Amino acid sequence: MNSWTFLYPLLKSGHILAMAAWVGGTIAVVMLVAPGGRLPTMEAQSAALRVMRFVVNPALFITLALGTAVASITGRALMADASWLHVKLLLVLALCAVHGMLVKRINDLRRGANVAPAQSANYLVFALLLPAVVIGLAVFKPSF
Ligand code: HEM
Repeated sequence: MNSWTFLYPLLKSGHILAMAAWVGGTIAVVMLVAPGGRLPTMEAQSAALRVMRFVVNPALFITLALGTAVASITGRALMADASWLHVKLLLVLALCAVHGMLVKRINDLRRGANVAPAQSANYLVFALLLPAVVIGLAVFKPSF
């Protein structure tokens, strides 16, 4: 057994664990900053900031770092038919954009900018649908 055989499942498990923390944390943040058409209380804003800082941001970084690591280990074998990975990366970019929108909303709320109330469902559509498609692509690896 060479060291990659041992390392690969370990990195991939880390990738999946971090991804779960990213998606789960994002759902928590959405519920806190967009509570059903009202503006969130100060406590909810602080909680959202804490979840973002201590769960979502590190989880996002670890997911991307370990995803890049597993992709480089699989290397040429994977790249030979990697259309699923390219589509996945596009959707990962969109997921990062949703993250950016949430960070901006938290910052605007905390500095008292004129932020409109929002429904969680508007964000949850993206926060749930995008990861679902990304996971489906990673698991089924369709070739287009
Ligand atoms: C820079 C970004 C990313 C890269 C380069 C990347 C790359 C990869 C690669 C190469 C695999 C290994 C496939 C295999 O050996 O079976 C993988 C697995 C996986 N990725 Fe990612 N990924 C990234 C981001 C994400 C994100 C954001 C999610 C979810 C929201 C995700 C979910 C998964 C899942 C669930 C698996 C396991 C699939 C399986 O074992 O069947 N990845 N990823």
